Amino acid sequence: MNILILGSGGREHSLAWAIKQNPKCDRLIVAPGNAGIAAIADCADINILDGGAVAVFAEENAVDFIIVGPEAPLAAGVADRLRSAGFLVFGPSQAAAQLEASKSFTKDVCTDAKAPTAAYQHCKTAEAAKDCVRTQGTPIVIKADGLAAGKGVIIAMTEDEAFAAIDDMFDGSFGTAGAEVVIEEFMEGEEASFFILSDGKTILPIGTAQDHKRAFDGDQGPNTGGMGAYSPAPIMTPKLTQTALREIIQPTMDEMAKRGTPFQGVLFAGLMIENGWPRLVEYNVRFGDPECQCLMMRLGGQVLDLLQACSEQRLHEVQVKWADDHALTVVMAANGYPGAYEKGTPIHNLDAQPEDSQHMVFHAGTGEKGGQIIATGGRVLSVTARGTTLAEAHEKAYAMAHSIDWPDGFYRSDIGWRAL
Ligand code: AMP
Ligand code: GLY
Repeated sequence: MNILILGSGGREHSLAWAIKQNPKCDRLIVAPGNAGIAAIADCADINILDGGAVAVFAEENAVDFIIVGPEAPLAAGVADRLRSAGFLVFGPSQAAAQLEASKSFTKDVCTDAKAPTAAYQHCKTAEAAKDCVRTQGTPIVIKADGLAAGKGVIIAMTEDEAFAAIDDMFDGSFGTAGAEVVIEEFMEGEEASFFILSDGKTILPIGTAQDHKRAFDGDQGPNTGGMGAYSPAPIMTPKLTQTALREIIQPTMDEMAKRGTPFQGVLFAGLMIENGWPRLVEYNVRFGDPECQCLMMRLGGQVLDLLQACSEQRLHEVQVKWADDHALTVVMAANGYPGAYEKGTPIHNLDAQPEDSQHMVFHAGTGEKGGQIIATGGRVLSVTARGTTLAEAHEKAYAMAHSIDWPDGFYRSDIGWRAL
């Protein structure tokens, strides 16, 4: 089978790494990929937001299966375009990707599906949004309606902060994503990420994780795309998992099917858990990054069979085989991230890192210059390890992170603290 993965982050490196282990995988191409991915797959420089260009490339390269990693091509309808060209595709349609691309859409779906989530109001003007804040009081959550690369959510502790966030959004600091906002009740509790495959008819839970969104130790500092993660999430007990499936996930999938836009792909539910009861924070329509790195390390080669069954609407035929294991990933980011950071700084001692079923340094923002690996992005490496306990995975991942020599990067020293 010739497989094409779209994307260039740590998520896509881990997907490629796992899929490569499956004997069904003949040729593996990742577009555009990165320096780490280039070591295990062919990289192709194509514009993944252009479905037509991807279709032409896939045709020329006799691709049998296309896996879409990030949300932007999904929201742009690339999966639809490829499906209509006859390709087998993993990833939801543009209509179903609204579950991530529009917060107000998701809120409407949750209302119709009776899925528990924070109370909310959808506001189209700054004045309406401010009135809502005055009525609701603080703390309160202000969200840009559209895709904002994980940056469109402000948790305001005071009315002034809330007003400033609203002004920012309506002044265009999130581009068109902020043209409308959702004002949401602040939910207390512990967060967990829950990953479910759906083929439009059948759902199959494939794992849980927790990530660390803040930049610095002790969950301090600005919000990021995620500075580390571990899987499984201890808070997601079998009972809680069943409750989330029954009260949130299945009703949402049923509602999407009822609307004529069934969801096909991986649903990433961000849950807030308080007193043993889950509520939805948000949906994403792709694997989480860096949560995916932990899931892939635990699932290994079977992930290709699962994604293929999902895309062929055969999920009822397959099962997930879990080892009783744990994985943890530490993200190494460029100094300054999530703000401004330097590009092109060299990373040393990567060659000395172990690469096996228990250890892997997944690359996110890396490139190669004169044989030297350099940092090209904000989140740069995802140092991942597996163990029979979380403590063991933690020790192995940090041993690798400590020995990577990159003076221009930083990482959190407390990934997994809640579960350890
Ligand atoms: P989102 O982009 O929707 O995942 O939001 C980013 C982060 O903001 C989430 O992971 C939560 O930590 C936090 N958050 C979002 N909505 C709420 C809410 N209603 N109550 C409390 N925290 C929230
Ligand atoms: N780590 C969170 C995300 O991928 O959105």
